[in-house]
This record gives sequence, structure tokens and C-alpha cells, in this order.
Amino acid sequence: MTEVIRVSPDRPDPAAIARAAECLRAGGLVAFPTETVYGLGVHALDRAALRRLFEAKQRPASDPLIVHVASVEQLAPLVAAVPDAARMLAGLFWPGPLTLVLTRSAAVPDEVTAGLDTVAVRVPAHPVARALITAAGIPVAAPSANLFSRPSPTQASHVLDDLDGRIDLIVDGGSTTIGVESTVLDLSGDVPTVLRPGAVTVEMLREVLPRVEVHAGSHRTEIGDRRAGASAPAFETPMRAPGMLEKHYSPRAPLTLFEGRRDAALRALTVAARSALAEGKSVGIIAADEDREALAALGEDRRILIRTIGSREAVEAVAARLYASLRELDASGADVILVRGFPTDGIGVAVQDRLRRAAAGRIIHC
Ligand code: TXA
Ligand code: MG
Repeated sequence: MTEVIRVSPDRPDPAAIARAAECLRAGGLVAFPTETVYGLGVHALDRAALRRLFEAKQRPASDPLIVHVASVEQLAPLVAAVPDAARMLAGLFWPGPLTLVLTRSAAVPDEVTAGLDTVAVRVPAHPVARALITAAGIPVAAPSANLFSRPSPTQASHVLDDLDGRIDLIVDGGSTTIGVESTVLDLSGDVPTVLRPGAVTVEMLREVLPRVEVHAGSHRTEIGDRRAGASAPAFETPMRAPGMLEKHYSPRAPLTLFEGRRDAALRALTVAARSALAEGKSVGIIAADEDREALAALGEDRRILIRTIGSREAVEAVAARLYASLRELDASGADVILVRGFPTDGIGVAVQDRLRRAAAGRIIHC
């Protein structure tokens, strides 16, 4: 049985945190909120516990984990050296949604890094995450607390839907605020490279670093349903970049993304919706508030579920609601999901990245 402890997101009860911390220290699997998404925490230096974590998530052993620490002081033992750039970025963006990939030390088990010579580390900002990691007094490895290939969880109920009975504890601190996973920045090579876009944008990084590149293959996805567990190949093909070889962030229903000019995109989306309805399918649509009127042209039909998830002028709110909306449409039994793309300013780049991955190639350029 998975136990759920509810805590205040701002001032979590110290007794509840102490219990969750004890569970982590003892090798348990504990889901907890961060400012981005819920993480599934485990003692980062406990090999047996790490293996249980991969099994619970059905995650391939070849996909490395992010280690969460309470402060920059706890970074040093995990890495070969703390480069100046890392110290500077930590000072500016930690605690917060920025993960740094650095050359690892011998202290970090292969189970965390998938055999890579680097380790990903971040200091989360959420008060519950901070309290828990501080109380545990250990580095905490934590992937997103979803089953492999499902959208990341932004509420405790999402964690329960995916992992009930498979993990020990969920610390329920309400909805996460950012809603998409942290920016992953690789500092282990010659040029700092963004492997996964997030709330700390490339523009923000370029303001403080002379050069920042963005990983080119950020939308490659693996076709097919790669399931791991005990039979997963051990560290033979570690991923050089986060989630890039996975079918990641996927809702159950196939998702088609419509990008480009407004009128053309809305027209193409409407045509696709009508033809799915004509085939007897039910249709889920995710769009901006501004598109509601145009989509009303589809008429009243029980088989259409339209989720307007925020204004195109404020993509932060869209990011915060994106994964919950995908899960809602799945739960409603939608056979297909149609999405109009959002502006790619700021966190919009991360929203587009997650939508493109969810679309797994089904992108209509209008
Ligand atoms: O916001 C987040 O980052 C959330 C919360 C819980 O902190 N965590 C998260 O973890 O999204 P996960 O495991 O779902 O995604 C982490 C990504 C993985 O896709 C992995 O490939 C990449 O980070 N990663 C981890 N270690 C790496 C390394 N050494 N080199 C390159 N990428 C790495
Ligand atoms: Mg994940």
C-alpha cells in the first residue's frame, strides 16, 4: 500500500517531513512535490533502492537520474570539480528549476548515472522538497514520479494513478507551480549545452554565460513502447541527452500538434476533429483561451471535449496546466488529442518541446 501524507505546501509539518525523511534514509520510495513536477525520491547512494525505483517506474536503466541536494555545499562530494560556471549559475538560479550536468565523482553509483561519467544535480526550490532533503541529510535521486512514458505528475493524484502500490509514500503538497520539468544544462563539455528546455530559459542563461548551445536532436523519439524492469539492458546505451531516445510525455491517445499561422492551424485542427468524429471517435482538444470562440464552430457534441488552458499572452499558466490537461483527456477516454501550439517565448519553448515529444512526429505545419 502507498501511504499519502498531506502537508501544507509552504509550511510542511516537521513531524510529517521527519517520517518521509526516515523512509528515504531507510531505502524507501517517496514521492514529493518540487516547483516543477512531483519527483519520486530515493537515497541516491543506495544501489538496491535505486534498482527498486527503476522497477517501480518501469524505467530503462539506461536513463540517468537527477540528484537533488539541499544546497550548493552538497554538490561538491558528487562531482569531480565544481567549475566556475557551475558556481555562478548555482548562485543565480539555485534553489530553482535548473539542473546542471557535471563530471561525476566516484561516490555516485552507476545506477544514478546509467554508467555515464557525468551526474545531473539540482537544488529544488519547493519548501516541501527542501525540508525533506534537508531532514533526510542525504542526496536524493528523483526522476519525475510517473510511470515511464506517461506525462509527468503535477498533483499527488497523478502519482497515485501511476504508482499506487508500487511506492511507499506520497507527500501531498498540492499542485506544483511551474508544471514542466527543470532546464537541463550540460556543463561537462567545452560549450554549455541545454539538453532540455525549462523555466530557466536559454535567454536567461545567455545573459550570464558567453556561449550556450541548444542540443540539436531535442525532438527525436523512439517509436514503440520500450519497457524496462529487470530485463532492461544494463548501462549499454546510456543517453547522452535527457529523455531524447524515449517516447516521453505521451498521453494514451495519439496527439497531433498544429503549428503555424492561426487561421490555417485552427482550420486544419477543425477538419481533423470533424473527420475523427465522422469515424466515430471522441476528440479531446487543448487550445488557448483565445481559440475558444473559433472552436465553437465545431458545435455541441458529447464526443468533443475542449480544454482551454490559458492565454497565449501568459504561457506560464499553460505550462502549469499542460500535463494535468493531457491526463484529464486521457481519463475522459478521448480517442485522439488535437493541440494548437503555443507561442514560443520564455517557457513556451519548454511547452513546445513537451508537446512535440508527445506528438511523436504527428506535427502539422500550417
Ligand atoms: O524538474 C525536474 O527535473 C524533475 C523534478 C522531480 O526535479 N525531475 C525530472 O527527472 O524530470 P527525470 O528523470 O524525469 O528527467 C531527468 C532527465 C532524464 O531524461 C535524463 O536523461 C537527464 O535528465 N539526465 C540525468 N542525468 C544526466 C546526465 N548525466 N547527462 C545527461 N542527461 C542526464
Ligand atoms: Mg521524467
